Amino acid sequence: MWSLRTPYMLSLLVVAMATTGCQSLGINEPNSFFVGRYTQYVLGDIPNQYADLSNPLPASSENISDGKKLYQAQCPVCHGAFGEGDGPAGKLLVPSPANLAVTRRLPVATDAFIFWTLSEGGEAFGTAMPAFGNQLTDKEIWQIALYLNTGFSL
Ligand code: HEC
Repeated sequence: MWSLRTPYMLSLLVVAMATTGCQSLGINEPNSFFVGRYTQYVLGDIPNQYADLSNPLPASSENISDGKKLYQAQCPVCHGAFGEGDGPAGKLLVPSPANLAVTRRLPVATDAFIFWTLSEGGEAFGTAMPAFGNQLTDKEIWQIALYLNTGFSL
């Protein structure tokens, strides 16, 4: 499923990675930054049911604060309270938990990308990112996505 936007997205990804550098992504191991997920997304290889999703919820303060509560309950152990990939359980993981504060701003991190990642986790890639599809409702996943969009500023 190559599309017109593919070369555009790929070039943005390369530029983003070159300019942010692995250091500022909070990576403690060389080569630990995980690009497989981005590559698969950009090549249009994510499962069809996710491909065209966009967040159906309004970015209301209620949804954002519910998303924050869900994030705080499930994610800081690996990704850190402010999404910097520095949670205590994440320290020894390779690849490291993503620095969400940075990667959420990459153009590739669309609603579909976030929903797919949270639903299916990293099993297909052999990473430690858990699949939340059976634990959280769709609504809860979208609320977390809205919270991530705030860049951890709330
Ligand atoms: C057990 C540790 C662990 C927990 C808990 C965890 N993650 Fe992850 N997460 C990872 C790892 C490791 C990666 C990098 C590998 C990958 O993408 O599969 C990752 C990747 C991601 C990505 C991919 C985005 C990117 O920028 O590369 C997102 C989004 C994400 N996590 C969000 C979350 C959210 C939201 C929660 C809580 C609901 C959560 N994670 C809980 C370990 C974890």
